[in-house]
Amino acid sequence: MRRKIAAGNWKMNGLRAQAAVVEALAAEHGGADCEVVICPPAPLIPLLAGLGSGFAIGGQDCHPAASGAHTGDLSAEMLADAGASHVIVGHSERRTDHGEDDALVRAKAEAAWRAGLVAIICIGETEAERDADRTLPVIDAQLAGSVPDGATGANTVIAYEPVWAIGTGRTPSPDDIEHVHRAIRAGLAGRFGADPSEAIRLLYGGSVKPGNAAEIFALSDVDGGLVGGASLKAEDFGPIIAAA
Ligand code: G3P
Repeated sequence: MRRKIAAGNWKMNGLRAQAAVVEALAAEHGGADCEVVICPPAPLIPLLAGLGSGFAIGGQDCHPAASGAHTGDLSAEMLADAGASHVIVGHSERRTDHGEDDALVRAKAEAAWRAGLVAIICIGETEAERDADRTLPVIDAQLAGSVPDGATGANTVIAYEPVWAIGTGRTPSPDDIEHVHRAIRAGLAGRFGADPSEAIRLLYGGSVKPGNAAEIFALSDVDGGLVGGASLKAEDFGPIIAAA
């Protein structure tokens, strides 16, 4: 039985005062059955990790190297040292804004593992790829390229985020989400074997809201969500945690 995850990706939002959201969520959902992961901007990691909320804290990106001359970058070791247990890698905003390809995402996931972090590896098709009926081939290629050998349920979470659904208020139909998640599970099983693949949690991301979370999280092979905008307010993320 895979434990569901409600993960919040705050992206480039939030100053220190945003810690009040985590405090409010912890007061109401501290004992939630699901795992809650909050991924704030890196400067907030020590503050949030020190709250004793019981929630896991994650970074939003890491460099593949442990240290070195890489101005402005953060290593997975630094995130772990600051109190993170998870890190998102390969988010489509990184792939687009910073030209990250599958090989780099894979190297980042390996760096996360070396630092003892769980890698939340993001994949997802663009709208043009979807319209061209290429969703599954794109997903397969991203899985093959971005997920390192040695992925297990303990070190890896996969987030399926259709690019066209991110921040748009649009989501795929439940059937479409289920179809893609099944294909991801089958792809993982083909590569890592049935048992390891059954243990890897698959999150859906893209316009998850209080109003659609329960329906999406109930789909087979959906083990929770990676939530952007709706993770920034306790009144939105609270019901999503409850749905998970
Ligand atoms: O990583 C989460 C994400 O990209 C989804 O964002 O705002 O559509 O929930 P949003």
